[in-house]
Amino acid sequence: GGKLRVWEGELNPVQSPVFVKTPKGLEPKVIGATPLLTSKESLEALEAAVTAYDNGRGVWPSMRVAERIEHVERFLVAMRAQRTAVVNLLMWEIGKTQADSEKEFDRTVDLIVETIRALKELDRTSSRFVQDQGIMAQIRRAPLGVALCMGPYNYPLNETFSTLFPALLMGNAVVFKPAKFGVLLIRPLLEAFRDSFPPGVINIIYGRGRETVGALMESGKVDVFAFIGTNKGASELKRMHPRPHRLKAVLGLDAKNPAIILEDADLDNAVKECITGTLSFNGQRCTALKVLMVHRRIVEQFLERFTAAVDRLKPGMPWDPGVALTPLPEPGKTAYLKGLVDDAVAKGARVVNKLGGQTNQSYYSPAVVYPVTSEMRLATEEQFGPVIPVMVFDEEEEVIRYVVNSNFGQQLSIFGKDSARIGKLIDAFSNQVGRINLNCQCQRGPDTFPFNGRKDSAEGTLSVADALRVFSIRTLVAAKTT
Ligand code: G3H
Repeated sequence: GGKLRVWEGELNPVQSPVFVKTPKGLEPKVIGATPLLTSKESLEALEAAVTAYDNGRGVWPSMRVAERIEHVERFLVAMRAQRTAVVNLLMWEIGKTQADSEKEFDRTVDLIVETIRALKELDRTSSRFVQDQGIMAQIRRAPLGVALCMGPYNYPLNETFSTLFPALLMGNAVVFKPAKFGVLLIRPLLEAFRDSFPPGVINIIYGRGRETVGALMESGKVDVFAFIGTNKGASELKRMHPRPHRLKAVLGLDAKNPAIILEDADLDNAVKECITGTLSFNGQRCTALKVLMVHRRIVEQFLERFTAAVDRLKPGMPWDPGVALTPLPEPGKTAYLKGLVDDAVAKGARVVNKLGGQTNQSYYSPAVVYPVTSEMRLATEEQFGPVIPVMVFDEEEEVIRYVVNSNFGQQLSIFGKDSARIGKLIDAFSNQVGRINLNCQCQRGPDTFPFNGRKDSAEGTLSVADALRVFSIRTLVAAKTT
């Protein structure tokens, strides 16, 4: 393929959230550096994509689907060879446990494989003919143009690739900006990108969001924008586009997913699911359970088991065997979490687990906060970390009101046995959230399921097959039959 153009100039040191022992004591470790592109350099990367797309006449968009798939399969072979390097960087850069880092890598490979399978299926069905009112038409799928793909720091590989590869496979040219943390792990894949795709088809930019991505948006040359991150970030960037009607967006945004624990719930199962639901990757998942709403009759029993289970989780380094809780990558995060807890405590709640809220450098010991009431920040603000607000309810109407009034609508979980009651809740929630989980935690997977949300939680639907549709448009070739 093409030449690998690497920008020199200002370099940004990348610091690990994992502190290491030095003669001076525990210190953060600098594990690498990334270039900081200026807006001019980011625009050069964009121009490379615009040229490669060439108004749909470039080599890549005009290539047969089967041939594009071959390029992606070539990339996959090279990507698999980099598993150890990428997994190590996931651990060092964002503090994800080894097991979860390996899962992220393998899940991403599977996602690309599944996307190829879905594309073959889509290609078969979308080239079919339809006939109505004396007109016969063939429906084709065409790319949109230049895609800008951005993912979050909590899944810096999986979530960026979950938009980047569907965009590429549909024939778009892509500019891709790695997440704020989790940037170095793209390095071991740079050569794979270079060797697998024609020049200009994939362009990776590094730097400060406003300067780099802001310039791209303002140019008006981005046709489709895929962003997984905060609502604030997405709205700011979308607003910069001079012709918003020409920008298609697919967004995965904020959430405050509740678990509703009814009085007849199997408590062992509810505790088990709520532990992983609230604390996998220290609660830094958009699909994490971010508030537990428990029926008053069982709240004491639930809390006793739940807090004991939280305090049994093993803290440590990402590579320690059996570790569940690890350092947090965002600087200032422990202070932010403490602020949320202080606000709740000042308004009458308590930290009810023994180890809750203890901090050590970038580590924050999960805090279970009870009873959380609606005037506390923790009732509605997305904490995206290891603080677990517990609210109590008497009537189901109270939880329905909470969900309906929430600004977010990604997912929720219901724990209970009475199917008539659960059925009523499902009816009440079906037009409020993208997914209702029964007796299990919230989650995005399997990746072949549609992943979306309502209100401020999402725009469009992501998943293997849906993502292919996001990055393409149907074009009709129609002729009269009579
Ligand atoms: O951060 C949001 C992710 O999409 C969550 O994915 O449920 O597979 O952890 P997950």
